[in-house]
Amino acid sequence: MHFRSWVRSTLVWSLPVLAIGAQSAAGSQIPHIERRGSTMQLIVDDKPFLVLGGEVYNNSSMSLDSMTPLWPRFRALHLNTVLAPVSWAMLEKSEGKFDYSMLDGLVRDARAHDLRLVLLWFGSWKNTWSSYAPDWVKRDFERFPRAQLRNGAATERLSPFSDACRDADARAFAALMRRIREIDGDAHTVIMVQVENEVGMIPDARDYSPTANAAYQQPVPQQLMDYLSKHKDTLHPKLSAKWQAAGLKTAGNWEAVFGPGLETEDLFMAWHYARYIDKVAEAGKAQYNMPMFTNAALIRGSYAPGQFNSGGPLPHSMDVWKAAAPQLDFLAPDIYFEFKKWSAEYDRSDNPLFVPETQGGARGGACAFYAVGRHSALGFSPFGIDWFTRPEDGDARLSRNYEVLAQLAPLVLENQPKGRVTAVLLDEPTPSQKLQLGDFTLDVSATRPWRNSPDRPEYPEEPPLQTPYGIFVATGPDEFYLAGAGLTVRFSPNSPGPSFAGLATVEEGSFVDGRWHPGRTLAGDDTEQGNSVSLRGTAGPGILRVVLYRYR
Ligand code: DGJ
Repeated sequence: MHFRSWVRSTLVWSLPVLAIGAQSAAGSQIPHIERRGSTMQLIVDDKPFLVLGGEVYNNSSMSLDSMTPLWPRFRALHLNTVLAPVSWAMLEKSEGKFDYSMLDGLVRDARAHDLRLVLLWFGSWKNTWSSYAPDWVKRDFERFPRAQLRNGAATERLSPFSDACRDADARAFAALMRRIREIDGDAHTVIMVQVENEVGMIPDARDYSPTANAAYQQPVPQQLMDYLSKHKDTLHPKLSAKWQAAGLKTAGNWEAVFGPGLETEDLFMAWHYARYIDKVAEAGKAQYNMPMFTNAALIRGSYAPGQFNSGGPLPHSMDVWKAAAPQLDFLAPDIYFEFKKWSAEYDRSDNPLFVPETQGGARGGACAFYAVGRHSALGFSPFGIDWFTRPEDGDARLSRNYEVLAQLAPLVLENQPKGRVTAVLLDEPTPSQKLQLGDFTLDVSATRPWRNSPDRPEYPEEPPLQTPYGIFVATGPDEFYLAGAGLTVRFSPNSPGPSFAGLATVEEGSFVDGRWHPGRTLAGDDTEQGNSVSLRGTAGPGILRVVLYRYR
């Protein structure tokens, strides 16, 4: 889904609100996802919430002491949320005995620093493997069988075909969620939970354990066949093509319905991982019903299933996941490459975009603007945020981007459901772009350095900006807020009336407690004598308020 269509009618102010999975709690509602207009939003304490997050390294949250110096640095970086793993092994060192000290401490310390938490359940799987399963699970390979390779060798991955593994995981996860409700049911420091981490099979495309082999010969479950038939016209093109190529059968085993090959094995694994995780999520939601999702490792180049995480929640198998795992509120991509492509794939009418892992730094800041502005992302979270907060590094680039996004968040969240927000990320293939926003076309291009021509010796050279980016919000028929860096924007009318757009007012400024505080008013050189506005961004992103008028 790309830029959401503009809704001109004043009716946009009274859009219908549909709650998904929300339950009343004492005081404000439990965090939940709501469909609002053309978007889905995360609602925390009864208000839309934009996650400006960062994910800590895998084991930083395995010791409260190792987190102690990080909390204030997260604040300084303008994070509002920390994504922190919780380990099954640490929670349930011996079967049925739960140790909540880490969880309790994390919640207490995050709250003390006015930060929210998205907890990552490192249960049965972490990056396809099972390294966070408890010792008593790992050692008992008869009761908790492993996935096997084609050659019969076991791997240290729990088999998704094992009910015993699933039920043990679900019991522990339910205990975790019950505890979160007990300690946090009113405060809502924990706002979402990721169930497992980057699941899938590697290096073969499927589990070859005896149970898996038998399941592969079974008919494709009716639940999936019904889903495919019902959503026939909107299935992912790759899934649709596979089903069609095999004759659009409505019954049969996996190879009969999807044809033989690794891609079918991938869909088969997707179904079984998703069913397993759905049961785990269901057990957790029965204790505390808050948004849950699982994340995907994406596909590099022309990798085949087994080279990439076979069965993971990838775009081509997302319909299978949706059919199998209705308890998951959404599926989320970990985007380390081709940001625009993957963010578009996960922004679907049945799936809001949330980016739990990605790059930080200047590039991360630019992508955050793009994800939020173009795809109404629920949030954004560079991986290894500990690194970006090192005192010697103090990543000013990410920090300034988050600071500006935090200022804009109320405006953005209010206008997203009305289709009044968009964004650009001017990567190589798209050096300039025309965007429709309200009654105007925005022609957006990379800002030329002042000293682009020899007749301008009075202005010093500026460093080139790697990736120009910006977010644009239409707050009225002729009023816009623009934020970003390295961009020049020219406006032209796209509706009947006088054919030229002029700049009535251009102000630099910032939002303080949601109110606009104007700085300099710009004209002359800074607006190409009234013809364009620029977010030069040499010192990081800025914000402009622009009021237009029309003339002939
Ligand atoms: C993706 C995983 O999901 C993270 O937990 C971490 O292992 C990173 N890769 C490391 O690059």
